[in-house]
Amino acid sequence: MTQREPNSDQPGLGGGSDAAAPRIGEGQVVIRPARAGELPAVRRLIGLYPDELVQDELPRISSFFVAESDGSIIGCCALQVYSRRLAEVRSLAIHPDFRGKGLAAQLVDACRRRGIDRRVRQLFAVTSEPGFFEGCGFTVHTGWKTAVFANLHPDT
Ligand SMILES: CC(C)(COP(=O)(O)OP(=O)(O)OC[C@H]1O[C@@H](n2cnc3c(N)ncnc32)[C@H](O)[C@@H]1OP(=O)(O)O)[C@@H](O)C(=O)NCCC(=O)NCCS
Repeated sequence: MTQREPNSDQPGLGGGSDAAAPRIGEGQVVIRPARAGELPAVRRLIGLYPDELVQDELPRISSFFVAESDGSIIGCCALQVYSRRLAEVRSLAIHPDFRGKGLAAQLVDACRRRGIDRRVRQLFAVTSEPGFFEGCGFTVHTGWKTAVFANLHPDT
């Protein structure tokens, strides 16, 4: 499985790490690492998608990034690091009222940058939405299940 580098000219893509700065132009949504105590809100959001997302054994809250609007968590995504070789992008959800604004792409990019910071070589996701992940720079392998991977270093 190969990876192409996401376009770093796109808003929200490129350098930096876990900064808590506003990430979209409207100035109302912030992408940031989740805080201790936010797991119930994250769980509620994931609970909106029982058919798409695993509901139990969620990653630890410290693994999540969230999108926050007016004090509410309206998006989430976790990076579960297994080793220096591999980490999984998990539990990606955007509240229905906020879909189509680029927030999921920004959350995945926050995971990607955290993976780079931690010197992880490759990301993957197991997903029912491979088209979305392809847009984020992942490539699809098809088999018994579909997995998408993104190399974090061009020489691997
Ligand atoms: C899939 C989901 C996370 C997308 O969130 P979103 O915030 O609406 O996505 P974005 O606005 O960041 O989309 C970024 C790009 O991906 C595209 N995209 C979004 N969903 C897509 C899909 N299902 N298939 C293909 N492309 C998709 C968008 O058109 C956009 O493209 P553009 O940059 O060319 O405009 C959201 O619909 C969701 O929460 N779904 C339910 C839970 C789920 O399925 N999670 C993922 C399973 S692991």
